[in-house]
Amino acid sequence: MHPDVKKILFTEEDIVNRCKQLGAQLTEHYRDNQHDLLVVGVLKGSIPFFAELIKHIDLDITVDFIAASSYAGTESLGDIKIIKDLDSSVIDRDIVLVEDIIDTGLTIKEIKELLYHKGAHDVKVAALLNKQSRRITDISADFLGFEIPNEFVIGFGLDFNQKYRNLPYIGVLKEELY
Ligand code: IMP
Ligand code: MG
Repeated sequence: MHPDVKKILFTEEDIVNRCKQLGAQLTEHYRDNQHDLLVVGVLKGSIPFFAELIKHIDLDITVDFIAASSYAGTESLGDIKIIKDLDSSVIDRDIVLVEDIIDTGLTIKEIKELLYHKGAHDVKVAALLNKQSRRITDISADFLGFEIPNEFVIGFGLDFNQKYRNLPYIGVLKEELY
């Protein structure tokens, strides 16, 4: 275990198993769709989750990525900007937004609204983690990996000041480090 980690919440095996279940749920939900599903990863935190999840979606899909400004440290700046936009058109598309964690909900709410504004037919959210206690918007994940308490977590894509994204598990960061 990395010395900056206080405890492990979810092992790689836990996450892979949950992604298999989520992939099956997505497959079931979109099975009868007429158009290919567009799966959009929110950079950079969703990368490992995105990579694991799409392997278990047994449908024809296309993928794309979007990047929004994120936290500096552990607190929300409350100012979300699109840094990298999608390459593909979203008009009339059914989209699944893949996010590492929903905290206040501001990031995913704004991205969702943007995609509807650009003409998406339907936008759903798949999140690896959810911190319901921190929510200040009415948004929720349609497909959720795990509910977690209000602790700062790192690993499996999640960072603290851009570090720890490569850890193969999700752990709680030691408080003395932030
Ligand atoms: P929201 O806009 O408050 O929902 O924040 C979502 C973003 O905040 C996520 O995509 C993460 O980048 C970041 N974030 C929130 N909580 C954590 C955490 O516990 N660890 C790492 N990043 C987090
Ligand atoms: Mg982040």
